[in-house]
Amino acid sequence: MQIIKTVEQWRSWRSGNTHASKSIGFVPTMGALHKGHLSLVERSVKENQINVVSIFLNPTQFNNQSDLQAYPESFETDVAQLERTGVDQLLAPDFNEIYPDNYQYKVIETSLSKQLCGKHRPGHFDGVLSVVLRLLNLVQPDRAYFGEKDYQQYQLVKGMAEAFLLETEIVSCSTVREADGLAFSSRNFRLTPGDRELAPKFYEILSSRLDLEKAVSELVASGFKVDYVEDFKNRRFGAVYLGEVRLIDNVPC
Ligand code: PAF
Repeated sequence: MQIIKTVEQWRSWRSGNTHASKSIGFVPTMGALHKGHLSLVERSVKENQINVVSIFLNPTQFNNQSDLQAYPESFETDVAQLERTGVDQLLAPDFNEIYPDNYQYKVIETSLSKQLCGKHRPGHFDGVLSVVLRLLNLVQPDRAYFGEKDYQQYQLVKGMAEAFLLETEIVSCSTVREADGLAFSSRNFRLTPGDRELAPKFYEILSSRLDLEKAVSELVASGFKVDYVEDFKNRRFGAVYLGEVRLIDNVPC
């Protein structure tokens, strides 16, 4: 696996003609890789001839600076995990490579991005869409893979790809869960042992058939601080806090 840090390096590799006719799969990440990410990579490797992962901790999608600061970073371990997967290229650019305009230009979606998590994290999806568009333009993959744990993100990225006539297919992959039901997330690394024990209750209550009000009161009674629980287009979405750690999940309903 080659590690590429600059746009120039990437473009010179991308324009090399030994792989010109091969399909490219792409998995964008912010690092702190876990089994959820690895399942996206596995699917990409299965479906494409060349596979690219990016690790870029995108500051523009954090509306809260302390959340950005607390985001776990584990570059060496991430690289070691990716080395075992069949990924060809790891893109690990710095801020100036991805934002030569210092984020003067952004993508703003005006409807879905204002609901659910967007209502509670102003500017979050502007940052997500802006970085994903930049990465897709740079990599120009045939397929890009997104997890359903971030279902709203997946829908928004898919909508953006259609709106901006991108040729990349946006592929969704099922949420990967621990044996106790907790969805894999980089944020899980920050849970205290006590909160980690409690965390699977979130999925349990979200996927129970309780009405919304009851689900919220069960979550509160169990020790979660509820950011929101909402039913939207046949799915139940939720975000809760355990201490400073914000967890999200969603299930069909
Ligand atoms: O899901 C994530 O990890 C991020 O939102 C993404 C898609 C890599 C953009 O920074």
